[in-house]
Amino acid sequence: SRTMRLAVIPGDGIGQEVVAQGLKVLNAVLPSDVKLETREYDLGARRWHATGETLPDAELESLKDHDAILLGAVGDPSVPSGVLERGLLLKLRFAFDHYVNLRPSKLFPHTDTPLAGRPEIDFIVVREGTEGPYVGNGGSLRTGTPHEVATEVSLNTALGVERVVRDAYERAQARPRKKLTLVHKNNVLVYAGHLWKNVFDRVGREYPEVTTDYLHVDAATIFFVTQPERFDVIVTDNLFGDILTDLAAAVTGGIGLAASGNINPTGAFPSMFEPVHGSAPDIAGTGKADPTAAVLSVALLLRHLGHEAEADRVEEAVADDLAARGTGPRTTDEIGDALAARVSG
Ligand code: NAD
Ligand code: IPM
Ligand code: MN
Repeated sequence: SRTMRLAVIPGDGIGQEVVAQGLKVLNAVLPSDVKLETREYDLGARRWHATGETLPDAELESLKDHDAILLGAVGDPSVPSGVLERGLLLKLRFAFDHYVNLRPSKLFPHTDTPLAGRPEIDFIVVREGTEGPYVGNGGSLRTGTPHEVATEVSLNTALGVERVVRDAYERAQARPRKKLTLVHKNNVLVYAGHLWKNVFDRVGREYPEVTTDYLHVDAATIFFVTQPERFDVIVTDNLFGDILTDLAAAVTGGIGLAASGNINPTGAFPSMFEPVHGSAPDIAGTGKADPTAAVLSVALLLRHLGHEAEADRVEEAVADDLAARGTGPRTTDEIGDALAARVSG
């Protein structure tokens, strides 16, 4: 029998609530010859208040000893903004070199969206995960004075851009439509923009079957709303990808359905799967959180670890559940139970 060693970081707010449902569905879908070993990490706001720690080195080290990581969300109004986001979530993405932040968007039929009834929407955003404006390359002078100066310099390396662009071409090549769109802002951010565009064009010569195009990020937001069916694979910078994927979620069924994988394609470190959404302090504890994004993140995790059939079952369960959704609201737990029943039934 095989063992799946899974590290679980529920984190804060609704992260705790939706991860419980993700594990429920994972337990229900795994074949009996796969033994699931989970280790739960107590990281997030509670831990920080109790000990001042965000992610101690020993825990970072022990996380490496897993096949994958399932994370809920981090961030809490009682902790200064950035402490947990940078000290825990981004620390993990950087330490484990999660350079492909994979964020699929699919318009499930029957979902409540401004685009309901539109032609099929099925695209993936390949968001760079380790560079750009996220690296902490900045500082503040004369802080708190009327003459304060703050910088936040975007870091873009040829190697870092090439590896994610190449990954995106591979994904486009493997899909029926074989289309790849680069999204940037090279009319203003000329240094980073030209690096991205040059790498995109050069690598593209190795993929003659892939149709390419380029959009400035502001125009891309228009097409996400007015013409999302034009997209197949999108590759973009860390910050643009963050913003675009919340928008993609909103137009394809809601933030409660959007899943993501922070992938290290080399396998050198475990990849990490998490909903696109955050800890949602406004609804934490009310049972209103939709756990579907966490459950679909489990599907991405299963696919990443080679459990294709189980990943398909989870995604089908979600599609069927959405199709069967009535008008009355269901709790987080009820949706988790319904999905678990569908994958085991
Ligand atoms: P958010 O995604 O937590 O919430 C935005 C809105 O979406 C809220 O109205 C929330 O109620 C709603 N929402 C989110 N997930 C939902 C779900 N599953 N079901 C139903 N509604 C849902 O974003 P925010 O409010 O900007 O951030 C809150 C905190 O989360 C901040 O501390 C932020 O830094 C953090 N955050 C963490 C992650 C992460 O851990 N990956 C991602 C985004 C934000
Ligand atoms: C996300 C979040 C994170 C990001 C934050 C919490 C660091 O918004 O996963 O989309 O910006 O990447
Ligand atoms: Mn985000």
